[in-house]
Amino acid sequence: MDPQQRIQELTQRLHHLNNQYYQHDISEVSDQEFDAMLAELNQLEKAYPDLAQPNSPTQRVGGTITKQFATAQHRYPMLSLGNTYSEDDLREFDERVQRGLEGAPYSYVCEQKFDGVAMSLHYATGELQQGVTRGDGTRGDVVTANVRTIRTLPLHLHANFPADVEVRGEVFMPNQVFNDLNQEREQNGEALLANPRNAASGALKLQDSALVAARRLRFYAYSVLTPGRHFTSHSESLEAAAAWGLPVSPTWRRCANIQEVLDYIHEWAQKRFELPVNTDGIVIKVDNLRQQDQLGLTAKSPRWAIAYKYPAAAARTELLRIEYNVGRTGAVTPVAHLTPVPLAGTIVKRASVHNANQIALLDLRIGDMVFVEKGGEIIPKITGVDFAARPAGAEPIRYPSECPACGTPLVRPEGEAHYRCPNERGCPPQLKARLEHYVSRKALNIDGLGAETVGRFFDLGLVKTPADIYDLPQRRAELIGLERLGEKSIDNLIAGIEKSKTVPFERVLFGLGIRYVGETVAQKLAQHYRNMAAIMAASAKEMAEVPEVGGVIADSLALWSQQPENQHLVQRLQAAAVPLEVTGEPPKAVSDRLAGLTFVLSGVFENYSREQLQELIQQHGGKITGSISKKLSYLVAGENMGPAKREKATTLKVPIISENELLALLPTAEAD
Ligand code: IVH
Repeated sequence: MDPQQRIQELTQRLHHLNNQYYQHDISEVSDQEFDAMLAELNQLEKAYPDLAQPNSPTQRVGGTITKQFATAQHRYPMLSLGNTYSEDDLREFDERVQRGLEGAPYSYVCEQKFDGVAMSLHYATGELQQGVTRGDGTRGDVVTANVRTIRTLPLHLHANFPADVEVRGEVFMPNQVFNDLNQEREQNGEALLANPRNAASGALKLQDSALVAARRLRFYAYSVLTPGRHFTSHSESLEAAAAWGLPVSPTWRRCANIQEVLDYIHEWAQKRFELPVNTDGIVIKVDNLRQQDQLGLTAKSPRWAIAYKYPAAAARTELLRIEYNVGRTGAVTPVAHLTPVPLAGTIVKRASVHNANQIALLDLRIGDMVFVEKGGEIIPKITGVDFAARPAGAEPIRYPSECPACGTPLVRPEGEAHYRCPNERGCPPQLKARLEHYVSRKALNIDGLGAETVGRFFDLGLVKTPADIYDLPQRRAELIGLERLGEKSIDNLIAGIEKSKTVPFERVLFGLGIRYVGETVAQKLAQHYRNMAAIMAASAKEMAEVPEVGGVIADSLALWSQQPENQHLVQRLQAAAVPLEVTGEPPKAVSDRLAGLTFVLSGVFENYSREQLQELIQQHGGKITGSISKKLSYLVAGENMGPAKREKATTLKVPIISENELLALLPTAEAD
């Protein structure tokens, strides 16, 4: 191919992929494919320097800053690392180091390459001052409030720290947390997070640090920078960082030579899957800091370090069949069943194929030998077909046009990737999943009636909707004698049902499993409307104004409330004495200083949490709303407020005030 054309093609593709990755958290290709394209472009540019473009993707560190946060300049640029997938390259790296150090003895430190988000933390006199993302390498987003939510991160360092120190490391979401979070999102009918890295990066970009805290992020430090020379070696700085109380993964090791480096790499090839965090390789660093300086940097990366990346774990196995699962919200997801095959530390029997498009795109057929890969994702995915091994006469997979469970024709709402079964009232897996959700821990949490038992009762035709659960105590005689349920378990179950009538209303609202009404939204709605009747009487337009409840949620709720069977369900729950209102007095009015005024709160505040400020405003007679309109009295702006909100308020001439200016509006007792 014409080199000019190829350079252009690669440049465009890489720019696009960079943009997708850094702006939208989407990885369209594996790291390996990306690196291969970048390497090819690099080579072409070397061979044809005249054709190289000044803003080529090879000329930048990668990444860019997002719009919502204040940005800060990095004191020392945040570089990237040269990558390699081959041991030969590592030996060449070692030879370059040896030459660069002119025969002086040297050693290495090997570390895990954590797959998260790079972060720079500044500590002054031991206090955490600022957390900044890598951004484009020279400027990044200031996300201090979000970083402070990381529990394992010390806000002040222990003894013997330098007065001024920058700690760099990786913010990540532990795999276990990621799995729990996704399970919860699935139960709430919310879109799943693609992998722990995206989840961590998405969490750091949230504007409300209370939501960030719920993501339970963690941090591992991997470098310490001080003005002047504080340490003689990198390993010494890691030991010091740990002594100051910073989390340092204990997996690092000093290696006397390249052979020990290779041994470390081999040793961790499988062991890395036992770590709580995803890793995608090993970082090899020259240990002595003076030698690091001597070797210096290229434009983008240090000559004293390199990353070895393990090839993405892949396996080849047979596609046995595709099963179509129907979830609580009716979404149909295809799951591939495979001949079991070991992969990255587990035995893989199933893989995700995302949706119908993906099946067509891969041209999957039953009986095919397929390639499965575990990238950053926990559930492996099918990445391709070994076409040479395709059995003769293999038929293309026909995606069902009817619900595999109830036969209702599937629909595909515009803009959605999934087909959906619209038979909310009659489709068994949907009904069953709704019951399971209703009894789950974060909803009614009924002792003695777990997901499995309620599922079994459903299969036996004993319960169909949550209201049927409350008829069970009257059917004690019928239940006794059911296989695996003794008299004692039945009595426990009945006691559990009674006890569950004391849960707060918001948990019942969450338990109803209304699409998009997760825990937080249920809480906000309960606080705002105080009872189910008021929620069901509210219009979509009105609900959309409630903070944290947007138009999509409001529409879904209004639609739910209109349906006669849902109204009937609520009546029956009411008759069974299930809590359908907030108990206790509404917050006491303290003054009417803010009567007639409406407020929008945005960003992160210094002295009070957003909830506390909301309560204060309400106690003084003010109203909180969710969106900025001409009629709004004040926009209260905290740290990291989005520029779009500021712009809208400015255009509509809505006054923007700070937290302190808000407090100044209150009677003096509150303002101190
Ligand atoms: S050292 C100049 N050590 O990998 C060297 N980086 O391309 C600076 N990373 O996004 C990085 N684990 O956040 C270093 N143990 C480790 C690392 C690590 C993960 C990430 C880093 C950056 C990328 C470097």
